[in-house]
Amino acid sequence: MSEMIRSDLVVVGAGVAGLTAALVAASGGRSVTVLTKGRACEPSGVEHSTSTFYAQGGIAVVEPDNPEDSVALHLADTLAAGAGLTDALATEPILADGWEAIAQLIDWGAEFDAGPDGRFLRTREGGHSVRRILHAGGDATGARVQQALAAAIAAAPIRVLDHAVATRLLTVDGRAVGVEYVRGADRGTVAASAVLLATGGLGHVYSATTNPSGSTGDGIALALRAGAEVADLEFVQFHPTMLYVPGARGRRTLVSEAVRGEGGVLVDVDGRSVTDGVHPLGDLAPRDVVARAVTAAMRRTGAPHVWLDISPVSDFERRFPTVTAGVRASGLGIDAHRLPVVPGAHYLCGGVVTDGDGRTSVPGLYAAGESARTGLHGANRLASNSLLEGLVMGRATARASASEPAVALVAVPTPDTPGQAVLPACDRTLLQDAMSAEVALDRTAAGLAEVAALLETAPPRAVATVADIEDANLTLTARAVVAAAQAREESRGCHYRADFPQTDEVGVPRRIRYADGQFVA
Ligand code: FAD
Ligand code: SIN
Repeated sequence: MSEMIRSDLVVVGAGVAGLTAALVAASGGRSVTVLTKGRACEPSGVEHSTSTFYAQGGIAVVEPDNPEDSVALHLADTLAAGAGLTDALATEPILADGWEAIAQLIDWGAEFDAGPDGRFLRTREGGHSVRRILHAGGDATGARVQQALAAAIAAAPIRVLDHAVATRLLTVDGRAVGVEYVRGADRGTVAASAVLLATGGLGHVYSATTNPSGSTGDGIALALRAGAEVADLEFVQFHPTMLYVPGARGRRTLVSEAVRGEGGVLVDVDGRSVTDGVHPLGDLAPRDVVARAVTAAMRRTGAPHVWLDISPVSDFERRFPTVTAGVRASGLGIDAHRLPVVPGAHYLCGGVVTDGDGRTSVPGLYAAGESARTGLHGANRLASNSLLEGLVMGRATARASASEPAVALVAVPTPDTPGQAVLPACDRTLLQDAMSAEVALDRTAAGLAEVAALLETAPPRAVATVADIEDANLTLTARAVVAAAQAREESRGCHYRADFPQTDEVGVPRRIRYADGQFVA
């Protein structure tokens, strides 16, 4: 069956960025359709399709009445973590709008942990000079945010197409006019004046990641095929403490950085500190620094992991129920007071290039959240700045996209017939293993060239199933990551070139587009 829907705004993605944008647009009287690979909120026991649901540590935000903090200090920490590539002019307004966005989230029903005096509790994570991270349910921040947003969506006049996978952006004369999707055996089109990509990250281009299984870089691939500019894709952030489970692939449990914020200590298997002498902030240095220190400790000892000593954390199970549950579900316990951890693919710092209102280089096309590149994260995201960005930019894109011209229904191309699209798609395991071996924390020209050759010779596949669509998206997105990593002949933030270990004096962001099967600057 083929269905045609018409909306003022179509949002691809039901995480923090997509749902925030949908709520704000609908409150302004616009018709909104949301597509998601899963559901806006899943019943318990079902894997969620959003990273938002799995967020643990919290949301970094400056509380206006906190005398120890200021937007200027949050900006300074964000710039320091971003290793010379964070765009200060783009970042300041995002951080400054943070408190208003949190207030709106609270209005929609979200609750944050508070002390007996009613004031919000704040934790600390890597790279933050003060405690400014709000959390909910201990380390269940993302689940609480997702639940609040999903409840608000259910009460609003918003159409949510669950289990609908966007397969193509529809453009007419270079303007985005809608999205084509598959939903089970059905195919359909949403025609809209504005299209928002809020599709999250790309963790599954690697063999082990903290991301849910739908994080396959779809938004990046859709945007590239539509001719949009992307930037900073070489900066894939590896979280220093993903739970180590021998031989496991796919989504793995995260051990929140807040565990270190509350006293947890990283030691190698011989009991020596992992970060001693590496950075003045020690275990709470920016994430790229700690992830590399963990890798160095594993190399030094020959062990497949380091330990996170949780004995200094008081009342661990109560403060970190999500981590505790994840550890137990992996067949481990917390009674030994130390958890085996390794770095794991976690977050895409770059993405589809946007301006301060979420506009991309393609008219009518917007991006927000992890799939967007606003300039906030630079070469390495500051912990807990991502939920904040999704909230603030979700609101901004909803407002800005209200002024897009209406799309003439007649102009919208009809959907492909099933099985018509043929796209290059690598075998997923092969792709993930190659990316993990050569395009993770250590990169060289030879390794990158090897992976580029594998991806560029990916066989064409008739894209019939969701797995086919995802494989094609993983292939194109991975190619773009590799191309960006090849072009950056220096080491900076999350991007480390063993053959170019120096950091250039000036950090230069690079935008690329995809045209005629090649990436062009
Ligand atoms: P997501 O929440 O990932 O949502 C993406 C949506 O897009 C989903 O609905 C998905 O189904 C949909 N989608 C994708 N492709 C398609 C398609 N082709 N068609 C239709 N729908 C599609 N950040 C913080 O700030 N603080 C934290 O404490 C924190 N902890 C984290 C812990 C974990 C384990 C992880 C994985 C991430 C964490 N992050 C944290 C990062 C943060 O959670 C994410 O960056 C953020 O939630 C991304 O939000 P989003 O709205 O951009 O995308
Ligand atoms: C964490 O809790 O360590 C994740 C925080 C983040 O990714 O921002």
